[in-house]
Amino acid sequence: MKTLGYLSYALLACLPFSEAHPGMGEQMAEMRRVANKIQRRQSKELIGDLATLADSKLTSIGKDIKAILLDQQNAESSTIDASIPAGAIGSAACKADLCCHWKWLAYEMTAKFNGTSGRCSKFARQAVRLGFHDAGVWSRDSGYGGADGSILLSNEMSRADNNGLAAIADQTNKWYTKYNQYGLSMADIIQFGANVATVVCPLGPRIRSFVGRKDNTKAGPTGLLPGEKDSADVLIKLFQAKTIDPHDLVALVGAHTTSQQHFVNTARDGDPQDTTPGIWDVAFYPQTTNNPPVRVLKFQSDINLSKDSRTSPEWAEFSGSGGQNHWNEDYSVAYTRLSLLGVNNINDLKECTKVLPARRSSFVSEDQKVLDMWLAGQFNQLNNMVDDAIQLTGVTTGT
Ligand code: HEM
Repeated sequence: MKTLGYLSYALLACLPFSEAHPGMGEQMAEMRRVANKIQRRQSKELIGDLATLADSKLTSIGKDIKAILLDQQNAESSTIDASIPAGAIGSAACKADLCCHWKWLAYEMTAKFNGTSGRCSKFARQAVRLGFHDAGVWSRDSGYGGADGSILLSNEMSRADNNGLAAIADQTNKWYTKYNQYGLSMADIIQFGANVATVVCPLGPRIRSFVGRKDNTKAGPTGLLPGEKDSADVLIKLFQAKTIDPHDLVALVGAHTTSQQHFVNTARDGDPQDTTPGIWDVAFYPQTTNNPPVRVLKFQSDINLSKDSRTSPEWAEFSGSGGQNHWNEDYSVAYTRLSLLGVNNINDLKECTKVLPARRSSFVSEDQKVLDMWLAGQFNQLNNMVDDAIQLTGVTTGT
């Protein structure tokens, strides 16, 4: 550990050199990133059963997840099983194959999350938020809650925290009714949905997807989800109590890049948090600190995080060149941790990443002209269309 610490200081010591040699800027930024990562690794905390299990007891999945949680391994994967499912839904052949029903479900989710515009739909965005709101109801002190399906198996949906999640809740309940009889838990369906949604959003990472979480019908504790007016200090402490450090918090809130709010300001229903809703790009970070077009509605909580000295350096890193790959990598590691909060059988989980759809590493927004006019405050009636990720080119608007 000490060696790593010295190495990071040595790397940091090189930094002023880049100012005298402008060509070295990118290399220095990368060195700074590596140095920061080395420092972060030293404070990473293990969770669930991984916190107590000896290395000799770990399964290969347990070892991989441990390495991801310690920030020693990437959480993205491009391994795809392109074969047809082992059998029809409910067939003996499908039941005999661990990921067969997950594959059918991935097909259904992909269809629901993909908009005709190529952007991801409101169901996708809500699925990512649903994953957060199920898993995030946990803290080191709570003793219960977390990624246990309770957001849909108990009365948690009646809490104001969960306003805006009704459509994905209805849809996920339908998927649960169809697939739970084949052994798919609500907790897993929710987290799998978040990962399918993330990769369906253009530019989104393909996050390794583990299954085997246990369901819980008991509502999780209250007061553990953030509010959009919270100070950076409140947010940082709230997430630290979930073992999520300030760096990972900055990576996670980047999910607002896809967002279109409904309840923060109801008079501005459908207004996005950056100029590219439904796209998993990094535009959200610089636009939170700058002056985006009028329709972009910034959350005070995001502004607060962009300014605090504990979170602003990472905010700037994601905003800069190379920010997309850096963010995808860091988001994937941070989301893997989030998706396992409160899970105490991590070592026994299995992996079905191979059934996720492929990621899209580029995207052309063909309706950008209309979108730009909408972002400039025109065409109010387009809100729901953008929200549903419908191709806008050729839409007869009239104001
Ligand atoms: C700093 C803490 C956070 C706060 C205060 C916050 C707050 C909010 C609020 C108020 C909304 C708008 C809901 C609406 O009006 O419809 C929202 C949307 C969203 N949040 Fe967060 N959030 C936070 C962190 C996160 C994290 C960690 C994730 C995921 C990992 C996430 C994912 C999303 C997504 C995807 C949406 C868009 C939903 C949609 O478009 O329907 N948020 N968040």
